Amino acid sequence: MEVVIVDRPELVMADIIAEAIEGGASTLGLATGSSPLATYTELIRRHRENGLSFAGVDAVLLDEYVGLPPTHPESYARFIRDNFTDHIDIGTVHSPDGMAPDFKAAAEAYDALIGRLGPVDVQILGIGSNGHIGFNEPSSSLTSRTRIKTLTEKTRQDNARFFDSFDEVPMHVITQGLGTICDAERLALVATGEGKADAIAAAVEGPLSASCPASILQWHRHATVVIDPAAASKLA
Ligand code: F6R
Repeated sequence: MEVVIVDRPELVMADIIAEAIEGGASTLGLATGSSPLATYTELIRRHRENGLSFAGVDAVLLDEYVGLPPTHPESYARFIRDNFTDHIDIGTVHSPDGMAPDFKAAAEAYDALIGRLGPVDVQILGIGSNGHIGFNEPSSSLTSRTRIKTLTEKTRQDNARFFDSFDEVPMHVITQGLGTICDAERLALVATGEGKADAIAAAVEGPLSASCPASILQWHRHATVVIDPAAASKLA
């Protein structure tokens, strides 16, 4: 695992993605939430000003809230369109179906789709304050595949800022599993701010353990953690 500490993580993240695209990558794995927003803004800028093209690239999202249709303002399908993919020339953007009548079948179908499109060339990741990646909350199996998960109260509190009230934050999500995520050729995790410092310390320097799902990056053959000094502040 490589750890890069820089004032502007989004520039390093954008370099990783741009290099992969220019090197022929055909599948990008996208995270939502606040952490990758600056990276997406920088990639949109490079697309507009430097001609970085995503033509021929498809994208797969990590996760989706159960019960939110892709038109819902807080659905991750909508979030990624509004904040990234509608502003570039990328191909199809796939996301787990949060409205599926049968979540087990939908999860299996999503893993099969990733298998057909993949391997994902670069999977962008954020990290939850409790160490989750995707929505693999602590104690998730390290080999898990896409499936339905219950959010912890902590994660629902962290994400309440996107909703009108805590009660509106869905209880369940459909998320790529840790095994699914680790099928990607490269993992690039971005985190900023002191609020992520404990999770980063556990992920980078703690034991490889389901207690901190992001510690799985220690095991992956090509994982890069790109953080600012505040997120790095609890590293030894
Ligand atoms: C979202 C996702 C989550 C977030 C994490 C951090 O698609 O997979 O793991 O990356 O909850 O969220 P932010 O960046 O909003 O702090």
